[in-house]
Amino acid sequence: MSGLVPNARSRRIEASATLAISARAAALKAEGHDVVSLGAGEPDAPTPEPIANAGIRAIETGDYRYTAAAGTPALRAAGAVWFGSEFGLAYEPSEVMVSAGAKAALHMALAAVIEPGDKVLLLAPHWVSYPTLIRVAGGEVVTLPAVPEQGFVHDRDAVARCVAEHGIRGMILNFPNNPSGAVATREQIQDIVDVANEHDLWLISDEIYATLLYDDARHISPAAVPGGRDRTVVVNGFTKSHTLTGWRTSFLAAPAAVVDVCARIQSQVLGNPCTISQAAMLEACKTPLPDEQERRMTAFNERRNFLVDSINAIDGLALQAPRGSFYALVDARPICEARGIDDVAACKQLLDDHLLASVPGSAFAIPGFIRLSYAADMTQLEKGVARLRAWAEADKR
Ligand SMILES: Cc1ncc(COP(=O)(O)O)c(C=O)c1O
Repeated sequence: MSGLVPNARSRRIEASATLAISARAAALKAEGHDVVSLGAGEPDAPTPEPIANAGIRAIETGDYRYTAAAGTPALRAAGAVWFGSEFGLAYEPSEVMVSAGAKAALHMALAAVIEPGDKVLLLAPHWVSYPTLIRVAGGEVVTLPAVPEQGFVHDRDAVARCVAEHGIRGMILNFPNNPSGAVATREQIQDIVDVANEHDLWLISDEIYATLLYDDARHISPAAVPGGRDRTVVVNGFTKSHTLTGWRTSFLAAPAAVVDVCARIQSQVLGNPCTISQAAMLEACKTPLPDEQERRMTAFNERRNFLVDSINAIDGLALQAPRGSFYALVDARPICEARGIDDVAACKQLLDDHLLASVPGSAFAIPGFIRLSYAADMTQLEKGVARLRAWAEADKR
């Protein structure tokens, strides 16, 4: 051995907690165990055929060469139209960039607006990758603890206090939320935008679940309310709605000056996002598939209702109905406290003793909770809930 080690910055980057669970679940499956996997954040339906076919056509017609780093002009223009028709956001093509998935877009956005040492606020529960993405961009993470008793949406005063106390420079928002399924109302979004204006903050809004909504929930982007547009970087796309997961495509929308810098960074670290995937994403923009979307949402809603009813019938567990996304954040605090274990140990018991893969809430800064994904069919969900019940009732036997 040379004695050389990776640098200190990279050693601070944590391995994903969700990957550890997936690896253990995969190992158990490989040993022949019948594992129910409710850990994955990926829709179970395949990429719709017309979209996949657009990718195939791109290969067949030789449309696979480098494109401009910010994406093809056709896709940036189609993205601007899509932001307008789907979300009422008015962007010029020059204000829309294509990136290689929401994750890459978030990286470009943070790299473009965060100065070294800037404090960036996360509202718990929050997606697992945000803290690392912030640190990679040179920022420091400040986390506002979760408020399950408020439906997981923080009030204006709590956000304003935290921003003032810590000298926050930017915030990442994520509604509909992974892992809670919370969707902020227009008033709640306006409150956050008002705080951002009072303290001159950047807002990075991860809206990757924006079209996955239930009941009367409506998605409101901070860029759509007064005072929001000029300080918001919107990240959105078809990853979760159309299973463009492995295709690695996304949009980033922001004022042109921000998009220009993001595109410059992207041109150096990534080059252009995959040309074939851009062709597929162009098809997704141009040809809405309302029947397909309706089928997916009907299935998700049926599963969501099943989980809400069946989990709330289990002693010691509680589930607030998610209003968006496809995750159920189960409150297991009573059981964890009674047994003197944390949520990581609870998920380990669920996997090792009951063959149910889930994700501990601590991965999302909400200890005592367990995240289940309902991007799985009803048979799997029914089996999963039976196993969850067996775990919850284990000490009653
Ligand atoms: C909140 C959130 N943002 C971003 C992503 C990553 O999306 P992509 O696959 O487009 O990079 C995920 C995936 O799980 C997510 O849950």
